Amino acid sequence: MDKLVIEGGNPLSGTIRIHGAKNAALPILAASLLAEGVHSLHNVPKLLDIETMLNILERLGCRCAHEEETVTIDTSPLGTSHVPEDLMRQMRSSIFLMGPLLSRFGEVTIYQPGGCAIGERKIDLHLQGLKQLGAEIEESNGRISCRAAKLTGSEVHLDYPSVGATENIMMAAAMAEGTTTISGAAREPEIQDLQNFLNQMGAQIIGAGTDTITIQGVKKLYPCSYEVIPDRIVAGTVMIAAAATRGNVTLTHTNAGHLTSLIHVLRRAGVQITVCNDIINISCMGRPRAVERIVTSPYPSFPTDLQSQVMVLLSLADGFSVIKETVFEGRFKHVEEMARMGADISIDLNRAFIRGVQRLYGATVEATDLRAGAALVIAGLAAHGTTVVEQAHHIDRGYDGIEKLFQKLGARISRKVPVPGPLDLAN
Ligand code: UD1
Repeated sequence: MDKLVIEGGNPLSGTIRIHGAKNAALPILAASLLAEGVHSLHNVPKLLDIETMLNILERLGCRCAHEEETVTIDTSPLGTSHVPEDLMRQMRSSIFLMGPLLSRFGEVTIYQPGGCAIGERKIDLHLQGLKQLGAEIEESNGRISCRAAKLTGSEVHLDYPSVGATENIMMAAAMAEGTTTISGAAREPEIQDLQNFLNQMGAQIIGAGTDTITIQGVKKLYPCSYEVIPDRIVAGTVMIAAAATRGNVTLTHTNAGHLTSLIHVLRRAGVQITVCNDIINISCMGRPRAVERIVTSPYPSFPTDLQSQVMVLLSLADGFSVIKETVFEGRFKHVEEMARMGADISIDLNRAFIRGVQRLYGATVEATDLRAGAALVIAGLAAHGTTVVEQAHHIDRGYDGIEKLFQKLGARISRKVPVPGPLDLAN
């Protein structure tokens, strides 16, 4: 498995363009199945998760090409509504295929995506929503079959504002007969992006970004051209890395409006931030201050996807900080790794108590999941000495070459790819 080797202690400096949002592009790629023909999607980042989704779409019969940051996808040859188990295992986001395939074929078979490194990740809300629209669902041994001769608009209430469930229901309802209202909907910017994409295809959806989304079903959707929003989590990761290394970095192609909670926390930590249109400048001259309390919860609150990264910054801050994680139960795996680097953090259930230290020190650590891995890269950039982040493939799921991104900002970071042994070559 690839490793990242980082010589830390260098303040980041320079300008970086932020790529398109993985979490917007994934449901949009799935939603393209709703309209037969050729779509052209721009600002789609070259990430492992995106390539996995394109492979899945190809296995379902579509023709896909990803050149530069444009995906061309021809959904006309789509030939099956059965998502094989091995594909479901490859990526949890294949769950997004459920709504569109059910709508196109009147039936869909998928497999439980199962738990993952950050928590249980149930799909009950997805299934309940589809049932509300008229789907009959059978589950046995992890195989889930949904059938609906016709999807009918309905009132769907989500007890928790699940991002994925909101998106799946929007996709299934876009061509249902009549009106669907989703109350208790998630409000993430990626949901607004999905609404905009669906409307560009001819859907009639309003309300994304609020907790009530109304979908007036239409008879047909048409292929279109669309540009995906910038990735707020990648932007946030770079901002935190700039602050943790006491650097000065300018981000372009961002949307600061999507980063309000992070900007608020960073300013409380004493980081200077200026925003001008789609440009954000971060500079941090001295030691950051502790932030008494951060609670992760659904948008617009502090994002769980930036929790591990901000913990690195606070582990170097002057004072004592507390972070409470309310979205996923298994999201403190980076803490043990950070302890190897000298961080002073203790955990009590879903709370992390962080006593800031003067320095982190390079060590060999393991990326256990995507965002934990990004956090360890930040820790390595800020630490004294050499850090090796193992299992870097987790990070590739959400960052288009994290080493190239930070090299552009003056970081000394490189990737070590294992040399295949004679046995590997023989296979
Ligand atoms: C999306 C993001 C992920 C982010 C998360 C929360 C994508 C591709 N991924 O994931 O990066 O960390 O939002 O911001 O967009 N839940 C249930 N039942 C369900 C669905 C969810 O109990 O049917 C629970 C989950 O177990 C979790 C919480 O709700 O505890 C949040 O999950 P959800 O908002 O659905 O996240 P995802 O869409 O999986």
